[in-house]
Amino acid sequence: MARPRVENPRTKFTNIRLTENERAEFESAADSLGYKNVSEYIRFLHSQHLGEQSRGEEWHPENESDFPGSLVQPFLSTEHGEVLWGDSRGYLFGKAKPNSIDLIMTSPPFGLVRKKSYGNEDADRYCDWFRPFADGFHRVLKDSGSLVIDIGGAWQPGQPTRSLYHFKLLVMLVEEYGFHLCQEHYWWNPSKLPTPAEWVNVRRVRVKDAVNTVWWLAKSPYPKANNKRILQPYSKSMQDLLKNGYKAKLRPSGHNISDKFSKDNGGSVPPNLLAIANTESNGRYLDQCRAENIAIHPARFPTQLPEYFIRFLTDPGDLVVDPFGGSCVTGVVAENLHRRWVCCELSEEYLLGAKARFVPTVQPLPKERGFPYAITSPCALPVEENNVPLFGDGGAKRPPEMKRNALAKPPVPRSSKAAI
Ligand SMILES: C[S@@+](CC[C@H](N)C(=O)[O-])C[C@H]1O[C@@H](n2cnc3c(N)ncnc32)[C@H](O)[C@@H]1O
Repeated sequence: MARPRVENPRTKFTNIRLTENERAEFESAADSLGYKNVSEYIRFLHSQHLGEQSRGEEWHPENESDFPGSLVQPFLSTEHGEVLWGDSRGYLFGKAKPNSIDLIMTSPPFGLVRKKSYGNEDADRYCDWFRPFADGFHRVLKDSGSLVIDIGGAWQPGQPTRSLYHFKLLVMLVEEYGFHLCQEHYWWNPSKLPTPAEWVNVRRVRVKDAVNTVWWLAKSPYPKANNKRILQPYSKSMQDLLKNGYKAKLRPSGHNISDKFSKDNGGSVPPNLLAIANTESNGRYLDQCRAENIAIHPARFPTQLPEYFIRFLTDPGDLVVDPFGGSCVTGVVAENLHRRWVCCELSEEYLLGAKARFVPTVQPLPKERGFPYAITSPCALPVEENNVPLFGDGGAKRPPEMKRNALAKPPVPRSSKAAI
């Protein structure tokens, strides 16, 4: 069946002239930020530009009245929760009651990273943009509640170096807003492609970037939590140990391994490294987006990420909020786990896609669990170092064989075109 036409299809082409290097830089930046192509990247830059214009003056907590509840409007409701369409600052300052939320589980838009020869302006701008949200989160979170922020790192465009924006955000939240860092987590995506290709595959001076930081913060050092809610299956060696018993002894590290370690607690406490491939089936969601020609959200997190923190840090009936709701993954997980929830999202298009998670029925959480991933220990392959010299210029130029390959391609005109 032919797809229904969208009201406002993208049928217009604009040519922009770029040098070959500029084009490579655009593609590398798009790639490192997770955009499929240069067009999407340029749309992202434009939306950031519009956002910056509207941000205007500096934020002061007394500007709260700038964010009335009317900034958000109901979009969809379910048995346990609701989706609000609009600017979540309207919800945080104009609708939500102070000290009312048990968990804020979210993934904010990643930082706009611009190459600056001086300092860390990109990171500072991101922090300034985040300030009203930081104030809002502090206002609405219960003392026993938690704030969990999944935030990916970013590469400086055109350069094999990293932005500090997500670390600066963490420092700001702790040092300026008084949040406590309960524990940092790392979400490792084992299926992540080797990106950014230019530095990883072409110039070979960096390694695959496959880990997101997840900051778990709280207003008090003692938010409610219980790690017995999120135990993982025992490893084979632990199962053997439980079966055959363990001889208490002092380890070379000085740790005294007592016979308490041979007690079966029903599972082991997980590490703060969460191995979750972002490949889970989004069946209904993707089908709906494709059928109705709606943009698929480019930065969805897998359901297991919010599931882990919701189970770990909240009880059924508690209130979970995602102020950067996107395709409402947090909402559908909370609904399945019988938590009350609110997701706010600026883009109506993303919400039209998200609807498929709740209508006509709530999409259940994926059944397959506990698939273990192996991480090979580093330096496991022998290498003859004389045959593999380091790149003395640190990757500043493409290696000669890549240049030869580039010459073998059809000639590129003085400027190359990128469609937006
Ligand atoms: C990284 S995405 C979240 C994706 C989401 N976790 C998911 O799995 O689908 C961040 C989202 O925040 C939204 N956003 C940005 N500013 C916002 C605001 N002030 N209020 C509500 N949503 C906002 C963006 O439109 C974007 O969809």
